[in-house]
Amino acid sequence: MRLNRFLARAGAASRRGADALIEAGRVRLNGEAVTQLGTTIDPDSDVVELDGVAVTLPQSLTYIALNKPPGYVVTMSDPHARRTVADLVNGVPPGVVPVGRLDAGTEGLLILTDDGELAHRIAHPSYEIDKVYEVQAKGTLSEEERLRLEAGLMLDGRITSPAAVRVVSSTARTTIAEMTIHEGRKRQVRRMFELVGHPVTGLRRTRVGPVELGDVPLGQWRYLTNDQLRALREALGMSPK
Ligand code: URA
Repeated sequence: MRLNRFLARAGAASRRGADALIEAGRVRLNGEAVTQLGTTIDPDSDVVELDGVAVTLPQSLTYIALNKPPGYVVTMSDPHARRTVADLVNGVPPGVVPVGRLDAGTEGLLILTDDGELAHRIAHPSYEIDKVYEVQAKGTLSEEERLRLEAGLMLDGRITSPAAVRVVSSTARTTIAEMTIHEGRKRQVRRMFELVGHPVTGLRRTRVGPVELGDVPLGQWRYLTNDQLRALREALGMSPK
């Protein structure tokens, strides 16, 4: 990589400004002043200094959407040697971890990243990021029960915050519903449906904020697209990357 580009990417100056710094003798490469424009460097092994201070590139961060199958525990290492989502995302950089939780039995969208601030904001209810679930439950969900789910129910001594519940289809034996919540309490959807008398028989997360699971095959993952990441950062009140 050209030295002026390296300095610009590191935020030290514009590319032209970097040339001026180089010509002024303010930049050292592996301890030696460089004044030659057009010098190239290896950002992985060379040490660049500006006015005696080391210059480094910003770390590039990783953002992944996994379609988690049931039967995998959401952790990167498990003392009980169960199957974990780490088994499904081989080759991602160390430090990439799941955002929030899904029960082992739940499938669908799980975001993994090494961007701690973004992960914190997705998981924290105050940012009101939608988490959308497709719920399959036993029996017919009545309108009164649907409204109770939406209004909030007592879980662990605290009322759940308002939710949105839409019945997609229903028979005497099974209801399929879409539920949108902002919190991520332990087994929240399962416990809420249980409380209104309809145990969950299948649970799948389809969307987190603006990020849809889309057509990622079960057990596979994709990098978030630039558009997805931009929309997600905006929804979280973060500056665009
Ligand atoms: N609610 C649940 O009950 N389980 C999940 O995995 C996610 C939300």
